Amino acid sequence: MSTSKLIVANWKMNGGLSANQLLLDDIKAGWGAVHCRVGVCVPYPYLTQVQLLLAGTPIALGAQDVSIHATGAYTGEVSGSMLRDFGVRYCLVGHSERRQYHRESEVDVALKARQALACGITPIVCVGETLAQREAGETDSVVKRQLAAVIHENGHCISEIVVAYEPVWAIGTGRTATPDQAQAVHAVLRAQLKAATPQHERVAILYGGSMNTGNAADLLSQPDVDGGLIGGASLKANDFLEILHKASHEALANPMK
Ligand code: PGA
Repeated sequence: MSTSKLIVANWKMNGGLSANQLLLDDIKAGWGAVHCRVGVCVPYPYLTQVQLLLAGTPIALGAQDVSIHATGAYTGEVSGSMLRDFGVRYCLVGHSERRQYHRESEVDVALKARQALACGITPIVCVGETLAQREAGETDSVVKRQLAAVIHENGHCISEIVVAYEPVWAIGTGRTATPDQAQAVHAVLRAQLKAATPQHERVAILYGGSMNTGNAADLLSQPDVDGGLIGGASLKANDFLEILHKASHEALANPMK
């Protein structure tokens, strides 16, 4: 995979005008020697604010969701072209909180990825199993089914996506997949992408789920872990910076990965 790791912050429904400014000012001030790609997925109302705060920095702007529709009578929805208007580069699709609380189906997630791609936005397709599914030995089949729906809908464009493996039992719980557990699932996803496109190496596969300053280096050193999707730890400038520095070190230490 790519030599440069990709670290993406998922602020979820956190922040506010002054908190966002403080957080990003601190991140910019502590930037130092960051050699990885970085994105920040913010709530919709802050797109303008964060677009301005990120101007002139290497940090890419991201959103957390996108409508399956291009335009029209869909109250409350936000389209890919609207996101594009604010310079959005990345958009999460199919985060487990949306699959769970908003009943997003596998087809919905695939259509969201399609809308993002049609607008020149990289969808970060989130997949992952629940604890019950893991305990039933269904992890591989669940993540493969979730990714298969997106591959089916998006055909040859699939090399333009990012995948995030986020075990549901590890999100916000402080319980992280071990590096071996993460690598095993990433290898399954890598093989699936390889079968789907000759350009599979373009696709970064991120790990997400309680990634923090203590476990980031080990997780990021796995051969098929190309980066991280960071929730809680991305809200603290020092923690996020430490993860960025670890990701940068990892990329430099293993340039062939
Ligand atoms: P977490 O969230 O790092 O707080 O577990 C990750 C995510 O849900 O994207």
